[in-house]
Amino acid sequence: MSGVIVTGGASGIGLASAEALLAEGRKVCLWDLQPLVAASAERLGVPYSQLDVTDEAAVAEAVDAAAAAMDGIDGLVHAAGVVRVEPVGMLTAELWDAVLDVNLRAYPLLAQAMLTHLRAAEGAAIVGISSIEGLVGNGAIPAYCASKGGLLAVTRSMAHQFGPEGIRVNAVCPGFIETPMLAPALQGPSGRQMFENASPLGRMGQPIEIGNAVAFLLSPKASFITGTHLVVDGGNISVNH
Ligand code: NAI
Repeated sequence: MSGVIVTGGASGIGLASAEALLAEGRKVCLWDLQPLVAASAERLGVPYSQLDVTDEAAVAEAVDAAAAAMDGIDGLVHAAGVVRVEPVGMLTAELWDAVLDVNLRAYPLLAQAMLTHLRAAEGAAIVGISSIEGLVGNGAIPAYCASKGGLLAVTRSMAHQFGPEGIRVNAVCPGFIETPMLAPALQGPSGRQMFENASPLGRMGQPIEIGNAVAFLLSPKASFITGTHLVVDGGNISVNH
């Protein structure tokens, strides 16, 4: 049995996705820019690479290492992501590219880099982590919104291309999840309350609640699901309009 590469695997949603996959008996390999990836991988007892997902040479090398360590590659979770507050008026080309490069451009290039392995695996599947911000507008973060909406479009495109080969491609759109990415916005009681009030469940989501959705979409239980996205937001965008 081969295994799943999880980008952004050092922390938050990527790490929780790896944990959910391991709980289902899957193999995983963590990729992340942060040195923390070594400790996270050691804790889970899995292989890892510390790399920048936008560095194509580093990715090619890491694909070979992951395939050797896991006896092939049968899945990709693209959870690596960045957010910058840069409303139009404060936007720079550099900021725009920095967000789009990691969140969006890397996604199909990563899939391409491991395509030979995915094609060779039985029941291979890909999951991209989008966001509710890819479905609704947020004036503070246009580049992030573009990257997450684009990820949904690329998900459908790859599902169309790879469906005939039996490779499924889906996305997950998390709502507000308690991870290091949102930590700055949680400073002070009013920040947290805003996120909690956004969901009819009255709380923020936990990373494992996204990890479980990712593991489902990568599993044979989702064998007829491709080219779509699963919103996991505690009901947020269903009630706030
Ligand atoms: P996080 O900050 O804990 O995880 C993101 C990880 O991506 C970090 O470990 C970071 O080092 C890694 N990363 C960033 N740039 C990278 C690069 N160039 N190469 C390799 N790794 C890189 O945050 P979180 O929340 O777990 O984010 C995971 C994904 O979930 C992101 O794509 C984010 O946009 C998305 N998301 C998060 C939500 C939330 O409320 N926390 C809501 C919706 C989507």
